Amino acid sequence: MRERIWAPLLLLPLLLPPPLWGGPPDSPRRELELELELEPGPLQPFDLLYASGAAAYYSGDYERAVRDLEAALRSHRRLREIRTRCARHCGARHPLPPPPPGEGPGAELPLFRSLLGRARCYRSCETQRLGGPASRHRVSEDVRSDFQRRVPYNYLQRAYIKLNQLEKAVEAAHTFFVANPEHMEMQQNIENYRATAGVEALQLVDREAKPHMESYNAGVKHYEADDFEMAIKHFEQALREYFAEDIECRTLCEGPQRFEEYEYLGYKAGLYEAIADHYMQVLVCQHECVRELATRPGRLSPIENFLPLHYDYLQFAYYRVGEYVKALECAKAYLLCHPDDEDVLDNVDYYESLLDDSIDPASIEAREDLTMFVKRHKLESELIKSAAEGLGFSYTEPNYWIRYGGRQDENRVPSGVNVEGAEVHGFSMGKKLSPKIDRDLREGGPLLYENITFVYNSEQLNGTQRVLLDNVLSEEQCRELHSVASGIMLVGDGYRGKTSPHTPNEKFEGATVLKALKSGYEGRVPLKSARLFYDISEKARRIVESYFMLNSTLYFSYTHMVCRTALSGQQDRRNDLSHPIHADNCLLDPEANECWKEPPAYTFRDYSALLYMNDDFEGGEFIFTEMDAKTVTASIKPKCGRMISFSSGGENPHGVKAVTKGKRCAVALWFTLDPLYRELERIQADEVIAILDQEQQGKHELNINPKDEL
Ligand SMILES: *[C@@H]1O[C@H](CO)[C@@H](O)[C@H](O)[C@H]1NC(C)=O
Ligand SMILES: *[C@@H]1O[C@H](CO)[C@@H](O)[C@H](O)[C@H]1NC(C)=O
Ligand SMILES: *[C@@H]1O[C@H](CO)[C@@H](O)[C@H](O)[C@H]1NC(C)=O
Repeated sequence: MRERIWAPLLLLPLLLPPPLWGGPPDSPRRELELELELEPGPLQPFDLLYASGAAAYYSGDYERAVRDLEAALRSHRRLREIRTRCARHCGARHPLPPPPPGEGPGAELPLFRSLLGRARCYRSCETQRLGGPASRHRVSEDVRSDFQRRVPYNYLQRAYIKLNQLEKAVEAAHTFFVANPEHMEMQQNIENYRATAGVEALQLVDREAKPHMESYNAGVKHYEADDFEMAIKHFEQALREYFAEDIECRTLCEGPQRFEEYEYLGYKAGLYEAIADHYMQVLVCQHECVRELATRPGRLSPIENFLPLHYDYLQFAYYRVGEYVKALECAKAYLLCHPDDEDVLDNVDYYESLLDDSIDPASIEAREDLTMFVKRHKLESELIKSAAEGLGFSYTEPNYWIRYGGRQDENRVPSGVNVEGAEVHGFSMGKKLSPKIDRDLREGGPLLYENITFVYNSEQLNGTQRVLLDNVLSEEQCRELHSVASGIMLVGDGYRGKTSPHTPNEKFEGATVLKALKSGYEGRVPLKSARLFYDISEKARRIVESYFMLNSTLYFSYTHMVCRTALSGQQDRRNDLSHPIHADNCLLDPEANECWKEPPAYTFRDYSALLYMNDDFEGGEFIFTEMDAKTVTASIKPKCGRMISFSSGGENPHGVKAVTKGKRCAVALWFTLDPLYRELERIQADEVIAILDQEQQGKHELNINPKDEL
């Protein structure tokens, strides 16, 4: 498929100074005008403000950092507003299609007159409102991505802290965290700030919240609390906001496009091809707004079936408050997206039977808002598909309403409601998801090696797919590995001397198997000890594969020896963790109680194991928690030869408590069932081992044949 081009912030680099533009296109937003008053003169480009805010932060000028970063965020918002408003204004002034053309020569002129008029209008509108040429507001890909990921809020929260403005810091930290839920340090910060400020009751504000998402969430909450009046109010509000946001999204698609497949200079398309090329990018982008609007900040996957779900909730809520006509309209609207949905078809019959005799059921149609929406959506699909065929690019229409093909009960029928006689009316009341593992849950397979002691299974560890074993290493092996760790980490491997990426109160050092073997080969550590690291990781892999009774090969995905050392003088009243709570193959979202299996998580990891080497330190317990990342369900004290292993998904959130004294070392292993994600370093390590074995063999042979030596 041709890359989806998303270029909302690049403005048309239009050329000439505009004629004055008279009058606002529609009711002005008061906020916007206020800002205009506060910041007279041309709108400063947000990338410049961002750069100067970040520079001020690094130079310790926190007041200026806050001022410029806040201005950057305002400028970024205003730019969006201006573009949307200009698009609406110019669209209304220069409608397409124009009045019907006459026959004969020049019949196409009215269309082009409208196009040219609209272009002129855009240029003048934007230049006017931006106080200068729109091209000043072009930004690099990096800056755009930073704003999408809300990185400016990360600087802001730190700057506000320095200025001792705790409430604003909490706000900024939370706003950042919402779009970066894997960033556990931020969550910790928020807790700390709130505790320090004594603002524990303070409501967390997401400054970039999308109204349509907020209203939807509120609707679901009321719905689940059986408060149907309020649910209706919020879902109706959510729909109005959704359609407004949809217009904005589509407008932003009309920005400049990038033609990555063409050498710009070699691009010699004629008039209609050039228009078609550009228009197709815009159209695909607009078509994709369905996904854009269903996707929460910082996520790649949309909420499944998002828009239709509004109508699904509403049909039932209206039924519960006795508004059968509206219930019917919503149910029929839902069927526009899922015409074969048997439950809703049953509901339609049932609602029709409840109607007053004076009302003809056939006269009640699907709600107009969704009817129009779906009609356009289908037209767009057809247009894109036929153009794709004709113009020779491939396009596969995503399934916009359901991701996994089949109907998913827990998503389709709003959950958690108890209705008498529910079955009679065909409501299936799926319970909301607890994390699922899509493979047979088995455990208790043989441990393969003598001397290994079984300690706890999943049940004893209060979870699923967990196991604790002892004596996987002997005391001597622990000592040997420990010396490898010291030896390698001494020579440095990038982590050396750095504080932990997870906490500023510990030093963090690590080494991979390949690194160990290289160090061994270079004589920095005994080769035999480096090889031990290789061998014990293979031992761990075999045990995990066997214990969980996996019937396909378990591959290494990443292996790492890690030591965490408490930094002295920084351990008083520490309340952070050595390694924050996380899951290994998904992004834990404690507020939503979900774990999103999508990048940047290592989604291909299937099993994890930690093999401990020592116990002469304080703190550093390994803990499992609930998905809230707070409630500890099991706690394990490391010691030499102890191994904890578990499946890598949202069912096993875990972390490491602060190491408050001494040095804690462990071998961390992640495994995958997908050969595509085999660890490359491991394959290289295998090769090194093979070479070493050959050399050994060679020496051996030399020993047998001493006369060759002369
Ligand atoms: C098991 O333990 C015994 C006695 O401690 C020891 O001699 C033997 O080498 C161990 N086996 C393995 C595979 O470590
Ligand atoms: C693994 O075992 C299950 C049944 O226990 C079977 O359905 C599945 O096909 C097996 N997978 C492989 C790769 O052998
Ligand atoms: C499992 O939960 C029980 C009850 O809360 C607790 O006593 C026990 O210590 C937990 N198991 C582990 C290994 O922490």
